[in-house]
Amino acid sequence: MAKTRTIFVCSECGYETGKWLGKCPACNMWNTFVEEKQQSRSKPIPASGSQKAVPITDIIKDTEDRQKTGISELDRVLGGGIVPASVVLVGGDPGIGKSTLLLQMCGALPRSHKILYISGEESVRQIKLRAERLSVNNPNILMVSETNFQVIEDIIEQVGPQTVILDSIQTVYSEELTSAPGSVSQVREIAGRLVVMAKGSGITVFIAGHVTKEGAIAGPRVLEHMVDTVLYFEGERHQNYRILRSVKNRFGSTNEIGIFEMRQEGLIEVENPSMTLLDGRAENQSGSVVVASVEGTRPMLLEIQALIAPTIFGMPRRMATGIDYNRLTMLMAVLEKKVGMQLYNYDAYVNVVGGIRLDEPACDLGVISSVAGSFKNKPIDSGTVVVGEVGLTGEVRAVSHIDKRIIEAKRLGFKKFILPAGNKKQSDRVNTPGEIELLFAETVEEALSYLF
Ligand SMILES: Nc1ncnc2c1ncn2[C@@H]1O[C@H](COP(=O)(O)OP(=O)(O)O)[C@@H](O)[C@H]1O
Ligand SMILES: [Mg+2]
Repeated sequence: MAKTRTIFVCSECGYETGKWLGKCPACNMWNTFVEEKQQSRSKPIPASGSQKAVPITDIIKDTEDRQKTGISELDRVLGGGIVPASVVLVGGDPGIGKSTLLLQMCGALPRSHKILYISGEESVRQIKLRAERLSVNNPNILMVSETNFQVIEDIIEQVGPQTVILDSIQTVYSEELTSAPGSVSQVREIAGRLVVMAKGSGITVFIAGHVTKEGAIAGPRVLEHMVDTVLYFEGERHQNYRILRSVKNRFGSTNEIGIFEMRQEGLIEVENPSMTLLDGRAENQSGSVVVASVEGTRPMLLEIQALIAPTIFGMPRRMATGIDYNRLTMLMAVLEKKVGMQLYNYDAYVNVVGGIRLDEPACDLGVISSVAGSFKNKPIDSGTVVVGEVGLTGEVRAVSHIDKRIIEAKRLGFKKFILPAGNKKQSDRVNTPGEIELLFAETVEEALSYLF
C-alpha cells in the first residue's frame, strides 16, 4: 500500500515543505502555501539502462520537420510550425477562445494527421456543435470526454495519435494522488506524465490551461518550466481581437504574436494588423497618436488615445488601458518636470485602441505625445508616426528595429516620423527623402516642438 503524506506546496513556484509557512523561501510570496495529500508511488520508476552519452558530432540532426498547422498566425507564434514530440501549453482566461483555437487547428492540420482531442470540460456532443460552427469535419480527429488520467493514458495508447490535445489540464486528475483536480500537485503530475509520454513516443501534446486573475497559469509556475512552449491567448473580453503571444519557446523566438478576430465562424487570422487596427481612426483629433511597435519580429502600428480633463474633486485620476499604469504615471511626471506641463489637477485616461497590450518602451514617446496633445487640445497631423523610449531626464532614447518600424509605416502611407536622435544612422538607410520626412529628437521637448 502506498504511503500518504501531507505536504504544503507554494502555489506560485511549486516549492514543497513539510509544514505550513507564511512566506515562501523560494519565491518570497506571502500566503501561497496550500495543503496537499501526496501519495508516494508504490513502484519506483526504473532507470533506463539503454541510455548512453554520444558525441555531439555523431548525432543525426532532425532537419526542419516542423508540421505546419495550416493557421499561419499560429505557425508564426510556434516558430514556424509544430515541432514533433513537443509539449505546448496554451493559457488564457476562460472564454477567450482556447478550445476554439485548438479545435480549429485540428481542422486545419492535414487530413491524414491523426489527432486525439480529450476534453474534460465538455461532452463530445457539445464539441460536435462547436466543430460544426467552425466547419471542422475530419474522421481522423477522434474525440473523447474524460477526466481520469489513467483512462486517458489507455485511450492514447489504443488510438496511437500523432497529436494529443488536452482541454483543459485543470479538469483532469490522476488516481494516484488524492488531491482535487486542478490542484498544484495534480497539474504538475499530469503535465509531467504528458512530457514523458511526448518525449518517449514522439506524440505532440497541446495542453489548454486556465489563467488566474494575477495572470499566471493556474497551478504552479513549474508547469511553465516543464513544457517546451507556452502560449498565452489574451484580449479584452468586449473586443473581438485576440492575441496569441509566445512567452516561452524552446524552438523559436519569444514575444512573437499572432492576431485573430473572434467571429461566429471561429477565429479569423488578421494578416495585416496595422491596417486593421488603424481602420476607422478618427483623424485630426487631439489626443490621438500612431506609434510603431515591434512585437516579436513583426512591426505593428497602433493608435494610442489620451484624454486629459480637469479634476473636478479630490485626487486626479490616472487610468491606463493597454499600457502599464506605473509607466504612464512616470511619463506624466516627466511631462510635468521636464516640459513644465501642469498636469497635477487633471485626470488622465490613456487607451491603446483594439484591446492590444503594449509593453514596449519604444511607445513611451507616443504616450507622451498623446497626453500632451490632449492637454494642449491640439491634434497631431494624421500622417505622423512617433517612436522613442523616454528616460527620466526627459531624453529620447534609441530603440531597436527602427528600420522595420519605418518601412511598415511607410507601407501604410505615413509621411512624417518623429524618431530618437540615437537612431539617425539606421533610419537614414531606409529614408526616401521627398516621400517621407524623418525628424530626430534628443529630448521630449524637442519631439513635442515638431508635433505642436
Ligand atoms: N455561437 C457563437 N457565435 C459566436 N461566437 C461564439 C459562439 N459561441 C462561442 N463563441 C465565442 O467563443 C468564445 C468561447 O471560446 P472557447 O474556445 O470556449 O474559450 P475557452 O476554451 O478559452 O474557455 C466565447 O467567448 C465567444 O466569444
Ligand atoms: Mg474551453
